[in-house]
Amino acid sequence: MEDILVQVLQRITPSEEERTFVEELTKELRGIAESVIEEAGLSVIPRFVGSLAKDTYLAGDHDVDLFLAFPLETPIEELRREGLKLGEEIGKRLDGYEVAYAEHPYVRARYRGVSVDLVPCYDVRSWRDVRTAVDRSILHTRWVNDNLNGRNNEVRLLKRFLKGIGAYGSEIYVRGFSGYLAEILTIEYGSFVEVLNQAGRILKRRVLDPAGWTEKEPAVAMKTVKREVREDKPLIVIDPVDPRRNVSANLSWEKYGAFYLRSREFLERPAVRFFFPQGKSIGSYLEELRKRGTALVTLLFDVQDIVDDLLLPQLERSARGFEKALGREGFEVLGWNVGRRGRAFIMLELNRAERERIRLKPGPEFFKESGQEFYGKNEKVWIVGKRLYSERTISESVIDVVSELLRKNQVALGKGIRDAVRRADVLLNYVPKELEDEAYLLLSREKWNLKG
Ligand code: UTP
Ligand code: MN
Repeated sequence: MEDILVQVLQRITPSEEERTFVEELTKELRGIAESVIEEAGLSVIPRFVGSLAKDTYLAGDHDVDLFLAFPLETPIEELRREGLKLGEEIGKRLDGYEVAYAEHPYVRARYRGVSVDLVPCYDVRSWRDVRTAVDRSILHTRWVNDNLNGRNNEVRLLKRFLKGIGAYGSEIYVRGFSGYLAEILTIEYGSFVEVLNQAGRILKRRVLDPAGWTEKEPAVAMKTVKREVREDKPLIVIDPVDPRRNVSANLSWEKYGAFYLRSREFLERPAVRFFFPQGKSIGSYLEELRKRGTALVTLLFDVQDIVDDLLLPQLERSARGFEKALGREGFEVLGWNVGRRGRAFIMLELNRAERERIRLKPGPEFFKESGQEFYGKNEKVWIVGKRLYSERTISESVIDVVSELLRKNQVALGKGIRDAVRRADVLLNYVPKELEDEAYLLLSREKWNLKG
C-alpha cells in the first residue's frame, strides 16, 4: 500500500517549479487586480479561493479562482454591474477573456496558459452575510486552511482516487464528490486510507457535522438535515461555514456506490490503476449489437441555446420517460445514454426491435360465396352475428411505436426540450459517425462499468 501511494503521489504532487510558477502567477494577478481596482476607485478586495489557495490542487491542474470581494453594503445590481466591468478590465490586461454565465455573469480569462476565473462576490464574514451562491467560497478556503494541518497530500490522493473511479466533480452532469467535500472528509478522518476505510460507516452515520452546528445552531442545522433526509440524499455534510447547506447535496447514490465498492476493492488489493485507469480501446457498436442480439434506438434533435447544465438533466428525464412508456408497450429498455455531440441525442438499448400484435380481421357474411373462401383460408374463424371473423398477427417496429407515443404525447419528456424531441429523427440500429463511440460505450457498458 505505502508503495502504491508513494508512486501516485509522485505523479500528483506539484513540483518545486510548479509551485514557484503558481506563486508568481498569483502575485502578478493580485498586483494587476489591485491596480485595476484602485484605478476604478472601488473598495474591492481580490481574494484567491479554490484548490490553488488551499494548496490541494493536483499537479498540472491549476486553474485560478480569483474572487472580487465587494463590501456587504453594495446593492446586488451594483455588484453585478461593477463586478463584471471590473472583471473585464482585469481580463483586458491578461491574455484574452470571455464572459461566462452562472448565477451572475463573471469573466473567464487566460493568463500564461492558465484559466483565470474573475468572480464578483460579497466579502462575507459569516454565513449570515451570504447572499449569492459563490459567497461561501471565501469562508471555505479559510476553514480548510485553518483545519487541514498539513494533510494536503492526503486530499490530493483522495481527489485523484475519486477522479480515477469517475466520481469526482459536483457538476450536475457528474453528481460526484466536490473538491471541498474531499477536503472535509480528509479533515474529519485524518487520511486518505482512513476515509476509504470508513466508506461504509460514513453511509450508516449519514450525517456529518464537522463544525458542531447541531449544538451551536440546532434549529437551523436540524432543518437542513430533515430537508436532505426527505430528499433521500446519500450523505448529509453540514457545511462547516453554513448550517443551512449540505456540502454533498449534489452527490448521487450511484457515485457514492462507486466510491463504496471501489474503496473496499482498493483496500484489499491496492493498485495504481484505481487512480489512473487504463484507457479502454473503443470497439465496433455494430459488432456489440450483433453479439447481444438487442436493438438500438437513437433520437437525434437540435437544441441550440440551452447550456449543458440544464440540457443533461432534461435528457435524462426524457430517457427515463421512454423507458417507462416503451415498457408499457412491451419493449424492455436495457440501458440508455444521453448527451450532446452537435445535436442532442437519446440512445436506448431495447430487448427487441419489433413486437407481434394481434389484429382483428373482419370477414364477409357466412352465407356469401366469399364466406366459404374466408372459412377455408383462415385457421381460427368465428361468427359474430352474420359476419365471419378471424385474426392475424402483425409485427410492429419500435420506430413506429416511438413515433406513435410521441404523437399521442405519451412520453414524459424534459420540459425545455419537449418540442425538439417530438421533431427528432429516430434511427434504428444505426448511428451517425460522431455517435459511434457513444453507441459502443452504451452497448458494451464500458461507460458505467464500475470495474473501470
Ligand atoms: P472548484 O470546483 O474549482 O473546487 O470550486 P476546488 O476546490 O478548486 O477543486 P479543483 O482542484 O479545482 O477540482 C471552487 C470553490 O467553489 C466552492 C468551494 O468553495 C470550492 O473551493 N464549491 C464548488 C462548493 O462549495 N461546492 C461545489 O460543489 C463546487
Ligand atoms: Mn478549482
